[in-house]
Amino acid sequence: MTEAKRLAAEKALEYVADGMIVGVGTGSTVTYFIDGLARFRDRIAGAVSSSEQSTQRLRAHGIEVLDLNATGPLPLYVDGADECDPHKRLIKGGGAALTREKIIAEASERFVCIIDPSKRVDVLGRFPLPVEVIPMARSLVAREILRLTGGQPVWRDGVVTDNGNWILDVHHLAITDPVGMERELNQIPGVVSVGLFARRPADVVIVGGEPPQVL
Ligand code: A5P
Repeated sequence: MTEAKRLAAEKALEYVADGMIVGVGTGSTVTYFIDGLARFRDRIAGAVSSSEQSTQRLRAHGIEVLDLNATGPLPLYVDGADECDPHKRLIKGGGAALTREKIIAEASERFVCIIDPSKRVDVLGRFPLPVEVIPMARSLVAREILRLTGGQPVWRDGVVTDNGNWILDVHHLAITDPVGMERELNQIPGVVSVGLFARRPADVVIVGGEPPQVL
């Protein structure tokens, strides 16, 4: 699947225009995008990054990383996903960067999601749904998620997010109403963000292949 990821990332570079500030996601697919973005280094105005990992790689290529508070809305956000349904709704957060990813997605006019074909599903939920939680609320949130969804929350032990929080991965879900579930889980005190990108789905999905498919 690595070649498919590279092909999707390469296609996404076509959405980059001169003078843009580009929102950049996190993960192995985005790594190819960042490496390709290096060719545009002198033509773009910089990037807003969704993780320390992506920030380091952007800077290593000499791409300036800007603060979202200083840039205002962004024209473009490019990121991967763990699952994508036919309505371009996503599960994200396998790399624990979901909160910053969600913030940048919200701030962006166009969200281009780059995936390999294995990420496409009819119904979201086979990939365990990541939920970022304030550490002291971990057990409370887990109990509430079990009660509300019947899914099985598992603590991603040892992982601390860039925001200093913890992750619960919710197993055994079949998410037939992603917007409703996103809204419901967001209400639980202690939840920082939910890895469902349904209220604000992707605008364009690029599935890597020869040739890449643009949905
Ligand atoms: C990071 O937290 C995730 O949302 C990633 O976007 C997602 O896990 C995709 O990762 P890969 O591109 O490595 O498959």
